[in-house]
Amino acid sequence: MPITPTEKIWMNGDMVAWDDAKIHILTHSLHYGMGVFEGIRAYETADGPGIFRLTDHIERLHDSAKIMMMDLPYTVEELVEATKAVVAATGLPSCYIRPIAYYGYGEMGLNTLPCSVDVAIACWPWGAYLGDDALTKGVRMKISSWIRHDHNSMPPAAKTTGNYVNSSLAKVEALKAGYDEAIILNPQGFVSECTGENIFIARHGKLISPPLSSGALEGITQSSVMTIARDLGLDVSLDTMARSDLYIAEEMFVCGTAAEVSAVSSVDDRELLSPGPMTTAIGEEYGRAVRGQIDRYKDWVEHAT
Ligand SMILES: Cc1ncc(COP(=O)(O)O)c(C=O)c1O
Repeated sequence: MPITPTEKIWMNGDMVAWDDAKIHILTHSLHYGMGVFEGIRAYETADGPGIFRLTDHIERLHDSAKIMMMDLPYTVEELVEATKAVVAATGLPSCYIRPIAYYGYGEMGLNTLPCSVDVAIACWPWGAYLGDDALTKGVRMKISSWIRHDHNSMPPAAKTTGNYVNSSLAKVEALKAGYDEAIILNPQGFVSECTGENIFIARHGKLISPPLSSGALEGITQSSVMTIARDLGLDVSLDTMARSDLYIAEEMFVCGTAAEVSAVSSVDDRELLSPGPMTTAIGEEYGRAVRGQIDRYKDWVEHAT
């Protein structure tokens, strides 16, 4: 999706003009994929831009860095404040936010221990990732020929830039085959997640979603959806699932910061009810929660100003 430039990008503590936010071609992470990042959304609310679960995202960034043995030079609190500042500096009512920490210029080679760690936070306007009618009409899914990383090769719990080579291969394969998105199985053959979303299906009236142990990122939208589902009186749990669970699901949706809640209309050309009743109820409630319209979820929305 094309990027719309905004005013400022936060880089290592400074607000830098968009066009000046540049790095050297020999920046370490560009070569070896050792960066950690987040994708966050700010929504227009009655009280200005509200950043959805900002602190949880920044805590996950710290967790990703810890897994990679990368020492972030900023605390969670400092990065939360920096994110609020860059959103406020753009003046946008809503936006997508991309914090990234990476090994900078100065060292080359696979030993990251001597590398400097640089941090940047950018934001720009971004629409619905899987299309404007993804919640109401649904998207077509294909099980990928690419397998999710094993836990002992690339840690799926860490949101590292390098992990997304796997997601990009699967995404392009699915798009080229005429589908909207890919579902990736883990090395054991069970469902892990999509290229940038967690998966939920309904089976026997209960919602289930693959856990971290299945190779899924611990999604912040996944955890929000589980809270919302329970508050709506639905039975929801993390559990393993096989590909045939998808084909005969009563309904299915995927969720993530970028894709929000998107219904699934088919998997490998097996048609599904789309959108199912649970998908619609959760998707609509999620849409209100992120905009600060539901009192019980108000703490999830952190204001930029
Ligand atoms: C691979 C992958 N799985 C799941 C998700 C959903 O995570 P979240 O809801 O925290 O955005 C994302 C998005 O960041 C992702 O990239």
